[in-house]
Amino acid sequence: MKILFVASEGLPFSKTGGLADVVEALPKALVQQGHEVAVVLPRYRGAPNDAAVYPSVTVPMGGKLRFPSVGGGQVLDGVRYFFVEDSEYYDRDGIYGTSGGDFPDNAERYSELCRAAIEVAKHVWRPDAIHCHDWQTGLLPLLLRISYAEDPLLKDTPVIFTIHNMGYQGVFGRAAIERAGIPAQTFHPGALEYFGSVNFLKAGLVFSDYLTTVSRKYAEEIRTPEFGYGLDGVARGRGDRLVGILNGVDYTAWNPETDALIAQKFSFKHLAGKFACKTHLLQIFGISPAHAARPLIGIVSRFADQKGFDLIAERAHELLREELSLVVLGSGDRRYEELFESLAAAYPGRVGVRVAYDNTLAHKIEAGADMFLMPSRYEPCGLNQIYSLKYGTVPVVRATGGLDDTIETFDLEHGTGTGFKFGEYSGAAMMYAVRQALHHYIDERIWKRIQLNGMAKDFSWAAPAREYAKLYEAAWSLRHPGQSLPVIVPAPEPKQARAAARNQTTLRSSN
Ligand code: ADP
Ligand code: GLC
Repeated sequence: MKILFVASEGLPFSKTGGLADVVEALPKALVQQGHEVAVVLPRYRGAPNDAAVYPSVTVPMGGKLRFPSVGGGQVLDGVRYFFVEDSEYYDRDGIYGTSGGDFPDNAERYSELCRAAIEVAKHVWRPDAIHCHDWQTGLLPLLLRISYAEDPLLKDTPVIFTIHNMGYQGVFGRAAIERAGIPAQTFHPGALEYFGSVNFLKAGLVFSDYLTTVSRKYAEEIRTPEFGYGLDGVARGRGDRLVGILNGVDYTAWNPETDALIAQKFSFKHLAGKFACKTHLLQIFGISPAHAARPLIGIVSRFADQKGFDLIAERAHELLREELSLVVLGSGDRRYEELFESLAAAYPGRVGVRVAYDNTLAHKIEAGADMFLMPSRYEPCGLNQIYSLKYGTVPVVRATGGLDDTIETFDLEHGTGTGFKFGEYSGAAMMYAVRQALHHYIDERIWKRIQLNGMAKDFSWAAPAREYAKLYEAAWSLRHPGQSLPVIVPAPEPKQARAAARNQTTLRSSN
């Protein structure tokens, strides 16, 4: 089939978090399975401009019209990319905002992305289905079903909507209806109104043919008040169309056997290189080589409440009374930046902290740490713990969402399991899991078993891509009853280097 992805970020062009990894890797996997995929993204600062493939899209916005263009059309690894170009909206420092907060015109910016993507589907690249991601694309299904309901070219196009994070909903005051050119008749509780506000995510949940989220467990959790962030009722209401499909990971980028960003490559059979990666990592963070035999805990994260750092704040000194070292890479919420900076100051030579967004360092931590700590309050999928498995870095995680679905608790009696988990969201429960890991680290043979169990796991995209393909077909059949599925034979495309584009990636450290 021909699938049009629409998203607010995607590698190798832009990234703030795991969404960008998924928007890069899933299309590649679908292409490998014979589908045709194009991706629509905003053209952020840093991405090179190229010729317009559609010079002017008419977008109603606050009583005026705007005229972004659509550029791109180039193909990378078989995936075609289009960019919505509007330098006033997208050519800024940061993707969603700055350290001072979100951009005040995000409703307009992402309304424009949705409108322009629909016009791409109509005039430039006609898909069999559209796949939207997160709140920034929530208006697309609404506009398609309301404003384009009679359009012969688009009215039967199904939309699949993936929730990567229910905690970010794109909530704006009522004035956003006029400002962002949203059809006024949709401001009611059955559409995008949420208690007097405009809610972009709700629009996506209400108007899409199928909803997915990024793990089975999270697909259940978001139906409850604790995880639904006010939209659990909507999730329950659409429960028969909501499925969990666990994310895969891209092993062409995250594999210690081929990773060019780490000090020494290593594998399941030859683990020795991992120690070289650890030594190198200790050096980078100024941790004394005298601590090389001690377990090293790694953290790579957006610093956000979601990630459970209040538990670390609560137990930091207790944690550091244990024989261990800690390296942390992340940025975002100033409170957590300060927490980790103060720990680094209090434990010089044992705690290393880098407040930054640094992909190379993220790889080095995955490779060089012994354990990876992810105590998330909630985690729709989580990619870092899956990367950790492949690098023999044992995850210690809270049993929520995708963390629970991807990590199996180590069982000493049977020698099975890949990590350590805790259920209750408390500092005590986290410390208990950390201590279990520390305890097993002492016995080299047991530790190696846990590492190898994790390294043997395969979370590649092939299986989830097939699940998505089935859903595209189901959505297509819903809107074309009695018709047989479209069959396409994709034309071979020249490959272009992703590495070149990746060098220009626009990065920001929080959602
Ligand atoms: P989320 O999308 O909620 O941030 P995920 O675990 O799904 O969490 O994905 C996070 C992605 O962002 C991973 O690819 C991770 O390596 C990367 N990442 C997060 N913080 C940083 C950082 N400070 N520097 C480099 N990469 C980071
Ligand atoms: C979100 C979630 C994360 C998930 C990622 C990709 O940012 O917080 O858990 O892995 O999206 O789906």
